[in-house]
Amino acid sequence: MLLVLGSGCGSNQSITSPVTDPAREIDTLWWAMFAVGMVIFGIVLGLLVLAYVRRRRATDHDRAERMSYAVILGGGMVAPVIVLAVLFAFVIRVMPAVSAPKPGATSLTVEVTGHQWYWEVRYPGTDAVTANEIHLPARTRVRIVARTADVIHSFWAPRLNRKIDMIPGRSNSIELDVPKVGTYRGQCSEFCGVGHAEMAFRVIVQPPDAFRTWLDHQAQPAETPSGGQALAGQQQFMSASCQDCHTIRGTPADGRVGPDLTHIGSRRTLAALTIPNTSRNLFQWITNPQWWKPGSRMPGFASLPVSARRALVAYLEGLH
Ligand code: CUA
Repeated sequence: MLLVLGSGCGSNQSITSPVTDPAREIDTLWWAMFAVGMVIFGIVLGLLVLAYVRRRRATDHDRAERMSYAVILGGGMVAPVIVLAVLFAFVIRVMPAVSAPKPGATSLTVEVTGHQWYWEVRYPGTDAVTANEIHLPARTRVRIVARTADVIHSFWAPRLNRKIDMIPGRSNSIELDVPKVGTYRGQCSEFCGVGHAEMAFRVIVQPPDAFRTWLDHQAQPAETPSGGQALAGQQQFMSASCQDCHTIRGTPADGRVGPDLTHIGSRRTLAALTIPNTSRNLFQWITNPQWWKPGSRMPGFASLPVSARRALVAYLEGLH
């Protein structure tokens, strides 16, 4: 039992292993609330046991009635008011640490837009557009601007900061300032339809130099396919309906329904972290995406000949 409970903690997506100051504040608040909750639970259990043990010994009914009023007033009104006031003060103390950054306080802005069911990531001032893998420079104050293209989603990387909702017609923002290079998992935390569980993301924090190199590369248009199979794949992509939904910068494909695929070969996962980005998985994804991710707006292409699907894989894999 403890093992099952414990397995939820300490993972790469746990508020109990914070890496930033705001996440540490939230962690402290969480433990404080948990401790208070445990103490109250203990007291209630103790009173229950006491009531059971003493149930036959109560002979003085007037005294018992006075006692029960005291318990109702004390335990039902006075104690909750005190406990909730103290916790409220604690929450007020944590709020400034997790509130939206002031204009001009950050040195990089990243726009993250929720879609059913993936994350579109843009770096204003550059042409770079990616999906589901959010690269950030370490030790840099980054403003994440959260929007949605459809329904309400919620952006949450528990080790980095609180949740921020993506509301239709609104821009919300949150600051991420991650001191440690590493990869941190995040997840949509507002139910947004059948693909909600398969709407995860990664925040990949790099040394600032490596991040610059990555960003410069992502801002470039797509590589020209090398090799006959990749070239055939490109033709297939442009003639099939792929290009109606996906953008590949530097080609005629400019669809905005699915993720930008300009540098899909450089990503580690497909379908918002549902599967690792391997040739085999990419082939199966093109063939039958509904098998991996029911409800996905990506149609299956099982009707295309195997050679055409292989060519598509060769083309897409080459887009580093
Ligand atoms: Cu997006 Cu849940």
